[in-house]
Amino acid sequence: MSQIQNNKFPQTTQPQFPIKRLRRLRRTPSLRELLKETRLSPNDFIYPLFVTSGINRKIPIEPMPRQNQLSIDLLLEEVAEAIRLGIRSILLFGIPPTKDDSGSEAYSDEGIIQTAVKKLKGKFTDLIVITDVCLCEYTNHGHCGVLQSNGTVDNDQTLNLLGEIALSHARAGADIIAPSAMMDGQIQAIRKTLDSQNFENIPLMAYSAKMNSAFYGPFRIAAESAPKNGDRKTYQMDGANLNEAIRELTQDAIEGADILMVKPALAYLDIISEAKSRFDHPIAAYNVSGEYSMLMAAVANGWLDEQEAMIEMLTSIKRAGADLIITYFAKSAAEALTSN
Ligand code: PBG
Repeated sequence: MSQIQNNKFPQTTQPQFPIKRLRRLRRTPSLRELLKETRLSPNDFIYPLFVTSGINRKIPIEPMPRQNQLSIDLLLEEVAEAIRLGIRSILLFGIPPTKDDSGSEAYSDEGIIQTAVKKLKGKFTDLIVITDVCLCEYTNHGHCGVLQSNGTVDNDQTLNLLGEIALSHARAGADIIAPSAMMDGQIQAIRKTLDSQNFENIPLMAYSAKMNSAFYGPFRIAAESAPKNGDRKTYQMDGANLNEAIRELTQDAIEGADILMVKPALAYLDIISEAKSRFDHPIAAYNVSGEYSMLMAAVANGWLDEQEAMIEMLTSIKRAGADLIITYFAKSAAEALTSN
């Protein structure tokens, strides 16, 4: 039993001579660039945008500097700018003019998202328009599903509505549908609904391992979607659970998800890495609102360098295993990458 059992330790206790020169490869900017293991590209990014009603409306989102709620006319300008910077894909969230019990604006063919998608696809044919499918921005109670009389979210009744929302997005011309309500069976239900209406070519990007996270705080201000009562703990996952995250990812893969997502990103890099190694699906990670706000607040105080910290964060998400990164930094990162 004198052998070293733990193979994490060096097998020899003797120092190595001569000194191993690892710094050799870091000597010049060209060498460092040549040997970079993880490279970001504007193709990696999906840019989330908030659409609101009216014309010529640009409402700044206070905790998220440079992000705004935009009316459709201004959304078109913002997207043109993003495309110019090399962004291929956007993710849309709607702020409806009215909310009700069952979030009916979410599946109206004349709803804010449906109108925005039609306009966007009419103008930018190559743009990939992804739509978030959830009820929380559309219900007056702010939950991601319909409520039973005892105040709990009714899973199976919500599935029907999620199918309706997805269908209305597909009819408007959405390229990818992203279900984010964390209801059990939502991928299967939506896939079935889409297929029954000849939308079998529309991929699903599943918010599979979506944690109940404090880092969504700024988004809920941006999308006016905070729950009026209670929290989302009965449907969003406990961030402490890696095994459960794998079960959620597995279930969505079985139900037919085309892209699997882990959300948030920075506090869950281990889950992204585990997802990448276990599945052959493209893995998306959502660099959420709170992650953006944290950095921007430090930048506003002069405590962090925006560009360097942003690139370091995004690189860590990609290195962990994300093939796609949904990020409010999409434009600034694309700009930084092309100017360097
Ligand atoms: C809708 C949804 C949320 C986010 C994306 N889709 C909010 C939530 O679940 O409360 C959060 C995104 C972000 O924080 O940037 N359910």
